[in-house]
Amino acid sequence: MSLFRKKSVEHMLQASAKGAGLKKALGALDLTFLGIGAIIGTGIFVLTGTGAVQAGPALMIAFLIAAVACCFAALAYAEFASTIPVAGSIYTYSYATLGELAAWVIGWDLMLEYGLATSAVSVGWSGYLQSLLSGFGLTLPAALSAAPGAVPGVHTLFNLPAFLVMMAITALLSVGVRESTRINNIMVAIKVTVVLLVIAVGVFHVTPANWHPFMPNGWHGVFGAAAVMFFAFIGFDSVSSAAEEVKNPKRDLPIGIIASLAVCAVLYVAVAAVVTGIVPSQRFAHVGHPVSFALQAVGENWVAGFIDLGAVLGMLTVILVMSYGQTRIIYAMSRDGLLPPKLSKVHPRFATPFFTTWLVGIFFGLIGALVPLNVLAELINIGTLAAFSMVSIAVLVLRKTHPHLPRAFRCPGVPVVPILAVGSCLFLMINLQPLTWIAFLVWTGFGLIVYFGYSRRHSRLAHAPHEPVHHD
Ligand code: ALA
Repeated sequence: MSLFRKKSVEHMLQASAKGAGLKKALGALDLTFLGIGAIIGTGIFVLTGTGAVQAGPALMIAFLIAAVACCFAALAYAEFASTIPVAGSIYTYSYATLGELAAWVIGWDLMLEYGLATSAVSVGWSGYLQSLLSGFGLTLPAALSAAPGAVPGVHTLFNLPAFLVMMAITALLSVGVRESTRINNIMVAIKVTVVLLVIAVGVFHVTPANWHPFMPNGWHGVFGAAAVMFFAFIGFDSVSSAAEEVKNPKRDLPIGIIASLAVCAVLYVAVAAVVTGIVPSQRFAHVGHPVSFALQAVGENWVAGFIDLGAVLGMLTVILVMSYGQTRIIYAMSRDGLLPPKLSKVHPRFATPFFTTWLVGIFFGLIGALVPLNVLAELINIGTLAAFSMVSIAVLVLRKTHPHLPRAFRCPGVPVVPILAVGSCLFLMINLQPLTWIAFLVWTGFGLIVYFGYSRRHSRLAHAPHEPVHHD
């Protein structure tokens, strides 16, 4: 059954033990910072508005539900990450455990996740940039300020700032600029400061009357918002991608994943409480910069300006990290023969996948310029949730197929926790819009056509008899 052919786990472990030349310098705290750097972005700064309209002040509960789902998934993820600490994210892990077809589906979903996430964050960035510029009396022509149909009643055509920021980041990545740990730490400091500023200043403007009704759209609204706000936590998985550069991956990876998630959950719930306490939730409809908007609404214009500036700076790292993840997944899939070899071609001078970087940069830059944010966020979530469910299943599979593999971090309560992870991911998935499901199924169908039409025959595993291939 070639659909289930697998990379050998032992081989991957040997390869990673050889060190692959990467310096092992990161500890648990660095990883936590890396996680927070990738997590805090458009979710809290922009989607909070959408979530508040949907759930009302119960947005706080929606954040908690999303955080709990992430926590289950993170525990499973952490076991996976600490067992097979090799670069290439869950695509590579699943290739070794679930087999080629599942790895393909996961890789294909991750392409959707990371690619569209860069588009989505560029849209969020654009909202805050425009708010910042308006503080200086500068306004873009409406046609160039947002995607078509993003603002009801306004004739918008193309989100120019979103497109330009994607091109700038693509240019940096294509010549080999990677986010350094130092820059990331500075960005994290900026973002966390901004979020704390919102909480510290906002709390004095809270009018508890705004918290009533607490749940204007009932549980339906809360669950729908949780499914959207899941987006705000995406990024904790980026910690595991750094596995090869971690001093003590078995201990530090799980700590990094879970600590970054916990810090963000606490901050998000507090921000949700504050902003829905300042402004009646319905007023956030179609506001591109809801967090600074709330503070502007109570006359804190200076603080709002700082928030705009911090958000504009801080979201840059999210785009960079996500674009990087995207190009490396495509690179890994192409290197394995599942995508055309051109996509893993490395530029002779810059030592980067130059062609792929520009290809996806332009493609997802155009998507960010032309598709409204909430549509993007739902699509990203469904792809990510599907991938996380598969990882949780993979943890169960790996316990059966490789029971003696050393695992410094063991997911507690197996099989209950991974099953809860699958259950909560599926639960959030069913709370997404029908249209999102249709788009997701079309994407998956298209992926299967590519797999059966191209990848299966070109797979390196199909042509590399010297590499041990495991058949079920
Ligand atoms: N969690 C990331 C964000 O909110 C993707 O921007």
